[in-house]
This record gives sequence, C-alpha cells and structure tokens, in this order.
Amino acid sequence: MTLVYPLQSLAAHPPRLSPAYKSTVKRSPSKPLIPMRHTLSELTGPVYGHETVRENDHDLTLQGKGEPIGERIIVHGHVLDEDGRGVPNTLVELWQANACGRYVHVVDQHPAPLDPNFTGAGRTQSDAQGYYRFVTIKPGAYPWGNHHNAWRPAHIHFSVFGHAFVSRLVTQMYFPGDPLIPLDPIFNSAPPHARDRLLATYDHEVTEANWALGYRWDIVLRGEMATPLDEGES
Ligand SMILES: [Fe+2]
Repeated sequence: MTLVYPLQSLAAHPPRLSPAYKSTVKRSPSKPLIPMRHTLSELTGPVYGHETVRENDHDLTLQGKGEPIGERIIVHGHVLDEDGRGVPNTLVELWQANACGRYVHVVDQHPAPLDPNFTGAGRTQSDAQGYYRFVTIKPGAYPWGNHHNAWRPAHIHFSVFGHAFVSRLVTQMYFPGDPLIPLDPIFNSAPPHARDRLLATYDHEVTEANWALGYRWDIVLRGEMATPLDEGES
C-alpha cells in the first residue's frame, strides 16, 4: 500500500459532471481543479474506528422486535487495497431502502410502507484478512425525480474507510440481472470499463438452505481495479 492516492484510481470513478444524472450539473465544479498535496492527517490520521461497532450491527434483521418483511439475503465480500491485499479491521457501513423501496428518512416521501422492524442501516468491520459479511433484506426499487418515470435499481449504499481518509470509498452495490440497471443514470455515470465492479454476483456457496440467498461483492479501495465512487444521494 502506498500512502498517496494513486492516480490510476481516477480512471474508475465517474466524471464530476454526468449530464444525464441531473444533480451533477449543479454540484460539479465549473472551473478546473487545483491539485493539492495530501496533508499528513489525510494520510496518517485515525479513521472511524471499531468502538462504534456492536455485536449484531452487521445483521439488519435483528434490529427490531420482529423480523423485517422481505427477502432475507447475505452480502459478503473482500475489501482489497490497490495491490490486491485484504484490508483488515476496517469499518464497513451500509444503508439501504426496505423491501418496499422506502428509506427511514424525512425526505423520502415515496408512498410505500415503512417497516417498523427495519432501519436500513448497518455496520461491521472487516476481519483479519479483510472479509466482511452482512445479513439484510433485499431492497426494493424506488422512484426518484431525475426524469420522467425514473426508478433506481435495487441497490445498497456502502462506505468503507480503509487505512486513511484518502482511501475512503462511498459507493453503491447493485444486484445482478436487474432490468433497471441499464436505465440508471447513476450506474451509467461510472466509466464503462469499471461499471461491472458495482455488481454483486449470486453466491450459491454462501446461500443458506431454507434461510437466505447469498451475494458476493468485493470492494477495491484504490488503484487500477478500484471500485467506482457512487456518491449519488438517491
Ligand atoms: Fe439509495
């Protein structure tokens, strides 16, 4: 692992301006960026740690008095650095809509039911080899205001810190075979060669009989094989 942000990472990330994804039009800088050297605190400062992770925070089906409604799934994978090595003991957070496509958030007024047994937020830390695992509910698609009849494909938002703030990645995981994916301007804002890195794969080895379907999604924090940023607010 190098301590600078490898420029190869940039090839994986969406351009700041993706006109089809409308909110990038106003939020992208209109003037050229000014390169700045990394600060010592960016490179070596502590990142959010493990004291905030409780025993069952990785299992979003255990947060309420009863089970949440929906299709139970296991999402697991390997957090890797730019050299292909596992990133151990790093904070992995996720947030997502419930099975009906509704977030527990005041801004979300989509007329779909909330689930009293599902917050949509979870966290864990990767193990000594860099592997993580969540149990959750498959999120539903939901409408958003980007254009007429726009629907987000089912997705799970992720934040991974890695070793330093310069390796923090905020992105989204998608499900294989979702017909809404080719229509999604957020997914399509990622460069074509890197888009498929946002797709999980169905994992029959991890699927548990009579219990839950398994999906695998590896996350590469920087470098040539970096997982694209996907910071869409939707
Ligand atoms: Fe979302």
